[in-house]
Amino acid sequence: MKRQITIAIDGFSSCGKSTLAKELANQLGYLFVDSGAMYRGVTLFALQNNLISNNDIDINGLLKELPSIELHFELNDTKTPELFLNNINVESEIRTPVVSTFVSQIARIKEVRIKLVEEQRKMGEKGGVIMDGRDIGTVVFPNAELKLFITANIDIRTERRFQEMINKGMETTKEAVEKNLTQRDFIDSNREESPLKQAKDAILIDNSHLTRQEQLDLALSYVQKVAKSQRLYSL
Ligand code: DC
Repeated sequence: MKRQITIAIDGFSSCGKSTLAKELANQLGYLFVDSGAMYRGVTLFALQNNLISNNDIDINGLLKELPSIELHFELNDTKTPELFLNNINVESEIRTPVVSTFVSQIARIKEVRIKLVEEQRKMGEKGGVIMDGRDIGTVVFPNAELKLFITANIDIRTERRFQEMINKGMETTKEAVEKNLTQRDFIDSNREESPLKQAKDAILIDNSHLTRQEQLDLALSYVQKVAKSQRLYSL
């Protein structure tokens, strides 16, 4: 029987983790899970239910509602997973600036992490999954056969994210994008619960000066190395 490995991809905000994860998943025929989308889904729920006002999060109110938050992914026409929150497709709403503003504060909440990590482990229990996030190699799948930690310099990340938002018709400035990325990296790296850090056995990829194809080829070469070392002739 074909054995499929687990691939964990972590790193800073907007450094192309999801793009790489999606492309790798397409190449290998694996399931791709964007775990950040799930934290964004909980943030959207909090905004929709008035649990965030005047920059303040009603944590107790959110904890009471946690059991009523159902998240799942469905593949769209181009086979890309899209997030559903309580059975409504929220893929574009979770990418708006207001969600980006609050998501790191929601992701610091222990109970939110416990719920989402449990769901993420279920999605990956049979292997054949590529998940990207901040704690995938350290907490969600500490035994993943391949762990990649992606980084890129802040000016390049800002430019990429800015162009992506402009292309989607969103209004923003480079200054606002850079501020959001820097703040999120700070909160994500310094929180008490599962802070963003490179797992000891993760391979670092700085993609500041790599094209998408070069990064994909590099990642595929690591996949092949794992396959060889595990004597897997087909992934
Ligand atoms: O990958 P992203 O930018 O869409 O993630 C949104 C936020 O969710 C990010 O600022 C930190 C948080 N996150 C997390 O804490 N753990 C994960 N596994 C994924 C995302």
